[in-house]
Amino acid sequence: METRSMHRDTVGRVGEQVTVKGWVNTRRDMGKLAFLDMRDRSGLLQVVLVPAELSERANELMPSIRSEYCLAITGIVQARGPKQVNPNLETGTVELLAKDIELLNPAKTPPFELADTSGINEESRLTYRYLDLRSPRMVKNLELRGAVAGFMRDYLRKEGFLEIETPNLTKGTPEGSREFLVPSRLHEGNFYVLPQSPQQFKQLLMVAGLEKYFQIARCFRDEDQRGDRQPEFTQLDMEMSFVTREDVMALVERLMVELVKTVTPEKHLTFTQIPRISYADAMNQYGNDKPDMRKDKNDPSEVAFCWVVDFPMFENDGEGGIQAVHHPFTSPHPEDVALLDTEPTKARANAYDLVMNGYEIWGGSIRIHARDLQQKVFQLLGLKDEQIQARFGHLLEAFEYGAPPHGGIAAGFDRIVMILANEPNIREVIAFPKTGDARDLLMGAPSDIEQKRLDEAHISIKKK
Ligand code: AMO
Repeated sequence: METRSMHRDTVGRVGEQVTVKGWVNTRRDMGKLAFLDMRDRSGLLQVVLVPAELSERANELMPSIRSEYCLAITGIVQARGPKQVNPNLETGTVELLAKDIELLNPAKTPPFELADTSGINEESRLTYRYLDLRSPRMVKNLELRGAVAGFMRDYLRKEGFLEIETPNLTKGTPEGSREFLVPSRLHEGNFYVLPQSPQQFKQLLMVAGLEKYFQIARCFRDEDQRGDRQPEFTQLDMEMSFVTREDVMALVERLMVELVKTVTPEKHLTFTQIPRISYADAMNQYGNDKPDMRKDKNDPSEVAFCWVVDFPMFENDGEGGIQAVHHPFTSPHPEDVALLDTEPTKARANAYDLVMNGYEIWGGSIRIHARDLQQKVFQLLGLKDEQIQARFGHLLEAFEYGAPPHGGIAAGFDRIVMILANEPNIREVIAFPKTGDARDLLMGAPSDIEQKRLDEAHISIKKK
């Protein structure tokens, strides 16, 4: 067989002999003839099987060929007659007259129809995710996801941001969720913690003088699942030095408007000038802090952004104390610094969220960069000095080496793609997501671990 051609490229090669490789999408039999719609990454191609034209082995194979068989087919590209042109197919002006077929791998009958998976239960789709990902819906979603990531990278690099990776094996950082623990083999009884976000690292990168950082970062949160939450999810994370909240908000606004226009030109924006609402007004007017500002909620191509600002610094933690609404590294609103000494629960934070069609998609703040103020906020949160030292001594010390004023923001990357793809939950835009009860049905995680490995990790399991 000769080198492989992609389906899409056959259009310009009428009269030539080519070899294509891919999967049988559908098979139709018309008397002695059979038509295969073959599928590869570039799309579909119609292949005609005429016994008289086929090699001996192809003739032998022909009756057994079924959906999802993996084949290499050599044949002649022919133009279709005017009546046979299929305007819905990128290769609809041509077809391949097969001469030889090589069976690369047969396929069992898939457990569900791949052409339209909308009615299939999610357990099956996730158990056979590698088949589900063959469906047009999932291919489209993953392509969109890749396009959004590519757009964001290009955009931020052009704006002078440096992409930097930060560790996943790290230490706990309080951002409101329970954390996943990783036992240390080398340090008995000690644990790493998977990051809820790169928050402290990105602030330390600002102390380091890198000024403009971004990362497409995996974050881990051991919290109850919902349609827009996963135990591991992706953030577009960024941080900048010497900025005001106006600078951060303006950058995100430009990025999001350009993103929608470039990656999903079929969408229309309700507002090009994104409205701003204070947390207090949002709660009063809409009863929540992520108002859906679309004019017509049934219009799948409408995109409405809105900023929510001036969140309170603190809220009751339900146990008699207070906790940070955003996270404890958030600086108070410049007008409210003095309230920290008198009525801290009245203080507003210098924080901002961007809401898209009723989903909180970006959240960020201007940070504290002075040691004393950071220490005071930890104290207000009820931490004792020894606890502060043990958990955040490194950060407080870093602030003493000329830490610049800085601020940043992070986006729920999966949520943005979900909304742009008109999907009802983020599992539809993640290649290998977890179920609602945090299981990976394909790999079978979480699972038990052999005793030997538990011993190595110095773990003994409490029997119920
Ligand atoms: P925050 O906790 O608001 O901020 O997270 C930022 C954005 O991440 C998305 N998000 C999630 N997406 C999917 N599954 C989850 N479990 C999940 N949790 C959050 C949301 C949210 O707006 N370090 C700060 C950012 C900063 O201050 O710069 C942070 O993580 O869309």
